[in-house]
Amino acid sequence: MEQALQRAAQVMAQVNELAAISEETTVITRLFGTPAFLQASNWVLGLMKAAGLDARIDNIGNVRGRWASHHTNAKTLVIASHIDTVRNAGKFDGPLGVLLGLDSITHIIQARIELPFHIELIAFSDEEGVRFHTTYLGSKVVAGTFETSLLHTKDEMGITLQQAIEQMHGNPRQLAADAMAAHDWLGYFEIHIEQGPVLYERDIPVAIVTAIAGQKRAEIIFTGTAGHAGTVPMNMRQDALCCAAEFILETEKLAHSMQVVATVGKLHVTGAASNTIPGEVICSLDLRSANEAMAAAAYEQLQQTCITICHKRKIVPEWKLVQQTTPVQCDEGLNTLVAKAIQQCGYPLVTMISGAGHDAVAISAVSPVTMLFVRCYKGISHHPEEAVELKDIAAAIKVSDNFIQQLIHRG
Ligand code: HGY
Ligand code: MN
Ligand code: MN
Repeated sequence: MEQALQRAAQVMAQVNELAAISEETTVITRLFGTPAFLQASNWVLGLMKAAGLDARIDNIGNVRGRWASHHTNAKTLVIASHIDTVRNAGKFDGPLGVLLGLDSITHIIQARIELPFHIELIAFSDEEGVRFHTTYLGSKVVAGTFETSLLHTKDEMGITLQQAIEQMHGNPRQLAADAMAAHDWLGYFEIHIEQGPVLYERDIPVAIVTAIAGQKRAEIIFTGTAGHAGTVPMNMRQDALCCAAEFILETEKLAHSMQVVATVGKLHVTGAASNTIPGEVICSLDLRSANEAMAAAAYEQLQQTCITICHKRKIVPEWKLVQQTTPVQCDEGLNTLVAKAIQQCGYPLVTMISGAGHDAVAISAVSPVTMLFVRCYKGISHHPEEAVELKDIAAAIKVSDNFIQQLIHRG
């Protein structure tokens, strides 16, 4: 079996081993700061140390392994992705990039390749933002853009982010010390599954990411009047769920008509009961576009639509912007090296915009970033059927090796 496939088989075995570390026995769920997350972090730490990296877990729970160049004043190439997951996740979203990075660095060490730059491999601790509803906590700390106000954010159990960090034996007062100084960055390289169907449909193993869509995430509370399902006449109701439902369908209609994607992924009926008219409903809104102006216009229009529907139904809306990121352009210089690597490895050259967010968004504040997408089965992601073929992992290994060689010889 060719060497890249052998290496790919080891990466696949590690992906499977990491997937077995979960909060739930039957599905993969590894939220920031949970015992399963800590177990996974220590497992990754062990792999990094076994590979010979100078490894540690920082105060926000990122697992960081460094392979230093003999040139002490050299800059650092960061290779990274995340090991936290959504609920009922797939195996590859995040871990594939971390374990492919470990493979590349292990290959460099074993081949005794002299590096003119340091390499730092990072398993970020919270890309998905499921527990505290704000993403990129780990990568923001490394980028030095973490806002300390976030420490007061509470999860569904009322635990603050500060408490969660302390429970992980991190020191919230030392987060700034975990940042990499802007002048230390040579660049950022992340390999990630596409999480969409384009590569699968076109039968192409890898692609370059040219940009990452901006996101706006909001929480909307609809307050009406709870009541007995049997006694309140229909024309006297202030049904919060019917109001939310009308808003959600209007959101879908608007997204179809503009260059945006909009999703209501969470809907909570407070005090839900089959014989009670819903008095309060809370829903999420996830709005994205690579076109910042279009996203802003759509967001504005949705807020107006929400007010109009609520006014008609005598419902009180409360709209909170939870987080937003503007679209990020990947670095042309680094992308050119990845493109050369893809061509020299004999693969078709495809470029794409990422609709999914990635830690590269946070890192782009301090470093040039480049991402390599890997085909996944039917584009399925954030789902147990997420799958990647061995030959595509091998393709990513070959392109990654070649990209790093190009970076070494670029000078
Ligand atoms: O939601 C996203 O775009 C990513 O999977 N965190
Ligand atoms: Mn994800
Ligand atoms: Mn991801």
